[in-house]
Amino acid sequence: MLVSATEMLKKAVEGHYAVGQFNINNLEWTKAILLTAQENNSPVILGVSEGAGKYMTGFKTVEAMVSAMIDSLGITVPVALHLDHGSYEGCYKCVKAGFSSIMFDGSHFPIEENVEKTTELVHVAHNLGLSIEAEVGSIGGEEDGVVGAGEIADPQECKRIADLGVDFLAAGIGNIHGKYPENWKGLDFDALAKIKELVGDLPLVLHGGTGIPEDMIKKAISLGVAKINVNTECQLYFQEATRKYIEEGKDLQGKGFDPRKLLAPGFEGIKTIVKEKMELFGSVGKA
Ligand code: 13P
Repeated sequence: MLVSATEMLKKAVEGHYAVGQFNINNLEWTKAILLTAQENNSPVILGVSEGAGKYMTGFKTVEAMVSAMIDSLGITVPVALHLDHGSYEGCYKCVKAGFSSIMFDGSHFPIEENVEKTTELVHVAHNLGLSIEAEVGSIGGEEDGVVGAGEIADPQECKRIADLGVDFLAAGIGNIHGKYPENWKGLDFDALAKIKELVGDLPLVLHGGTGIPEDMIKKAISLGVAKINVNTECQLYFQEATRKYIEEGKDLQGKGFDPRKLLAPGFEGIKTIVKEKMELFGSVGKA
């Protein structure tokens, strides 16, 4: 059964670790992440961008696949199905489709409009027992068509959005979707500390988890980050393993063309990186 992410993230704040949000694209991604969470006794959040939802033919398909897979694989660790960077309309679609968590990304709206829409969606989500994430300051780079300038969140605005009753908050602190450029300045820990001071124990979310050095991840967790989003790194591991399989000519040997064989190395690649991240975030054994 799907659960909201509220409880698992409260526990993460108390226990000084973070729960990974891993974005899904298809059946292989979902199965790899669910099995890795179960094998490592870790809570997990499956992230779905609007683009990935569309690719999988809609949020209803996604919810049906994830719920059925939890059942048929015998997954017992807490799993939240979460809309990533949702639009106002996307949030309503996911609520209707049976997601257990939504993110409303109103960071590109003027703060008053972000406040107004977030307030409404907090009520909708909480009435149905869903958790809700909001965003202040934008995450740099691009993810599935969502483009952000990468501005640092204003701590006072974070406090304002936090006070609306959101369950966890994404605050831009110099983090970027996709690979980090060579000249990246790193995370702004002063901003993070100021935000933490104002929002107290509200779980903070670090987007752009791909490629952030380990010491920065640990420091971010020590300053209140309890949810870390990873997307690109799973794609890169899948790509590298698939490329190797083809370059070694394995698809040309015997029944190597069988999609279940062709996709197997990539599937294992995702499992490897998800396990590594769960260990780094400290969520192993915390289910
Ligand atoms: P990366 O693709 O950089 O890992 O970011 C993932 C993310 O933040 C999803 O919202």
